[in-house]
Amino acid sequence: MNTYILAKHLHLTAVVLTIALFLLRYFWLLRGSGMLQQKWVKIVPHVVDTVLLASAVALCLLIPLNPLQHPWLWQKILLVILYIFTGYFVLKRAQGLLSKWLGFGVAMACLAMAGKMAVSKQALLML
Ligand code: HEM
Repeated sequence: MNTYILAKHLHLTAVVLTIALFLLRYFWLLRGSGMLQQKWVKIVPHVVDTVLLASAVALCLLIPLNPLQHPWLWQKILLVILYIFTGYFVLKRAQGLLSKWLGFGVAMACLAMAGKMAVSKQALLML
């Protein structure tokens, strides 16, 4: 298996895991479950997100793709940053149910748009 294929498999696996772990933690949050306090729940999502970003950087270097020259790529990076911030807000800071659901909606929309842009290689904003 060449390095590009390996990085791509890692990237896609990390994408699936980050979404699954976010949904699981949001489900536990809504139920007020003590499962959120487990040690692995505090560690594994950070490891997965680190693999997601490291594999993304590896793909950019291997292909190679300069994000500044490809609007779909820098816009995807902005969406991922927004996803990380809203994810943190929803899981750690949001107080009311409305702000939790609003943050959850924004986080999911960011992921959906990032995924769509990755496949289509089309920017969202034509700047
Ligand atoms: C900083 C964050 C990210 C960067 C810089 C990044 C960058 C990249 C790059 C360079 C590729 C390879 C494109 C190719 O093979 O031609 C790729 C593939 C892909 N990425 Fe990301 N990615 C990031 C995060 C994400 C996230 C959060 C998602 C999902 C929501 C995602 C979904 C995908 C998918 C589905 C592909 C495969 C596209 C295809 O082969 O058609 N990426 N990404």
